[in-house]
Amino acid sequence: MNTDAVHASPLAPEWLAVPDNLNVLQAPMWAAGVEKSDAGEVTIDGIPVSELKEKFGTPLFVMSESDFRSRARAFKDAFDEAFADICGGVDVYYAGKSFLCTAVASWVAEEGLRLDTCSGGELAVAARAGIEGPNLGLHGNNKSDAEINRALDMKLGRIVVDSLDELERVAKIASSRGETAKVMLRLTPGVHAHTHEFIATAHEDQKFGLSMAEDSTEEAGLSAAEEAVAAATSYSSIELLGLHCHIGSQIFEPDGFAVAAQKLLGFLAAMQLKYSIVLPELDLGGGYGIAYTPVDTPRPAAEIAQAMAVVVRSTCAELGITAPRISIEPGRAIVGSTTFTLYEVGTLKTVRVDAPEAESQQGNVTYPRRYVSVDGGMSDNARPVLYDADYSAILASRESSADPQLSRVVGKHCESGDIVVRDVYLPADVAAGDLLAVPGTGAYCWALSSNYNYLARPGVVAVRDGAARLIVRGETEEDLLNRDMGVANV
Ligand code: LLP
Repeated sequence: MNTDAVHASPLAPEWLAVPDNLNVLQAPMWAAGVEKSDAGEVTIDGIPVSELKEKFGTPLFVMSESDFRSRARAFKDAFDEAFADICGGVDVYYAGKSFLCTAVASWVAEEGLRLDTCSGGELAVAARAGIEGPNLGLHGNNKSDAEINRALDMKLGRIVVDSLDELERVAKIASSRGETAKVMLRLTPGVHAHTHEFIATAHEDQKFGLSMAEDSTEEAGLSAAEEAVAAATSYSSIELLGLHCHIGSQIFEPDGFAVAAQKLLGFLAAMQLKYSIVLPELDLGGGYGIAYTPVDTPRPAAEIAQAMAVVVRSTCAELGITAPRISIEPGRAIVGSTTFTLYEVGTLKTVRVDAPEAESQQGNVTYPRRYVSVDGGMSDNARPVLYDADYSAILASRESSADPQLSRVVGKHCESGDIVVRDVYLPADVAAGDLLAVPGTGAYCWALSSNYNYLARPGVVAVRDGAARLIVRGETEEDLLNRDMGVANV
């Protein structure tokens, strides 16, 4: 027996435990309906992954439609219930940037949610899916005039304005059309949250939003946020609905949301008083975290909703204001865990790596790291490269009783950084032709996919009631060459 393989590898990160049983699906990372069959194969709604591979090929995004719908509904119901006595419920805008196609847009609408878009292209998907303008929001720090016009054509429920510049542009365009634009102002409250921690600072050094810091404009004492409120109320072509903030992504603890809510409510109250206006809406953005690995511990929507409701209720009471209608914009927390990516294993190799520092003092010790190459990579999941994001993986096409082996799942791109799962224990007998499934790939994977190295972007299959259908087809070689104008044009 290879003893390197059974014990925790010194090369593994501290958080990664050797699983008791490599054949078991670890619950928080997988969609409802994903199970192991008696034969040891991963199935979704009873469909074995080998059948999906046969029919649709790999790599493949495999999404549970029922899981998507129930997560969407869970958010809506949890927030509606928690905020019922505060503002009559919550408007939940699914953040389309996390994953969007017409099928998903239609599920969002059917489950009673609205849709948050951030480009003309996303608006085009929404329109194709038949989503009504009033149920749409438009974000973006650099909206084009065409996008603003499109938003007005579609009679959008809200344009979330990001800067003083843009406010003026929206006002002018709406005025030239003889219309009124419904506007929210995106503020940066100086609260940043990431996973378990948040930090609060007075200033924001980033491209999004209007700063709430009092010295953020030339005019002493007036923040960019206040300047925008004053300007918005002076334009007859602007209907100022309220304020917006988004404090970050993959957040587990509600504290950051609570501090941001307090800050924005305080500002909202001050503006209402100073400018004799009513700001009826407050959007607290998205960012709710999900489990990518066994150590991630996201909270249920109901728990976050309750914690946020407590703060909004008490802050409004302290300020003596009627609570605005609250809205939120979850993306990842709705779609992230609904999907796994199915890959086929190709080349394998094992390298010996120097021991980490503490160990190496005892001599020149090396440990094995096995590279498992799959048929996709950074073109279908850029998150490990972009954000150092961790993922997990399981041998999906069969059971194995082999020992755990520390593995690095890598793609097939011409980049050494092309990593899909940096560290995971997989059975030592994983071989070419096996299928691997990587959970938690519903958000910001397909959405960020590329054709790097002329790889075709994978299709997306939705599974519901035991049937699988393509909701986005995979690209073909013809697609890859479609925009190339050909040698005749050189
Ligand atoms: N609202 C606004 C204004 C946003 O900018 C975002 C995400 C969301 C809502 C949705 O956040 P979520 O609930 O999905 O975390 N590509 C990165 C994340 C970028 C997030 C951009 N904005 C990643 O993959 O981690």
